[in-house]
Amino acid sequence: MNNGLHSRRRFIADSTKLFVIVTSFSVLPCACGKEQAPQSKTATGLDVENGEIVLNINNLPYRPLKNIGGGVKLDIEGAPKPIIVTRVTGTEVAAFSSQCTHAGYEVLLPENGVLICESGHGGEFDLRGNAIAGPPKSNLTKYPARLDNNKVYIDYPL
Ligand code: FES
Repeated sequence: MNNGLHSRRRFIADSTKLFVIVTSFSVLPCACGKEQAPQSKTATGLDVENGEIVLNINNLPYRPLKNIGGGVKLDIEGAPKPIIVTRVTGTEVAAFSSQCTHAGYEVLLPENGVLICESGHGGEFDLRGNAIAGPPKSNLTKYPARLDNNKVYIDYPL
């Protein structure tokens, strides 16, 4: 009886370790920044701390986030579309899905403070992922994000 309980506890502990390992390898960024990031970005993986994705904006792939209006895309395995991270103000960043709320096409990185849907339907969003023009009636799906000491923390459900 005790051996069975011990084995179950051991299995749960081992399963938890495995889940963490799989999670940390399942998140891959893509190279979509305005200051074109190298393709090797997809091989570097993302840092995850306490369940949050962490981007150091001093690192090349994420440098577009140093400038207001800049943005990057992150590919996350299993997500229907990449997530977009933008620099909104000197102290504010935003993170949201790039899947358009009209018909599901992908939203492009910001140009002059506006993100355009690739569909050609005329959908546009602001730097916070709010619908501002065209057929989309709702905002892009948002994820809590904050900027702290040159690092962006994104609370994305991994
Ligand atoms: S799918 Fe984006 S505007 Fe239609």
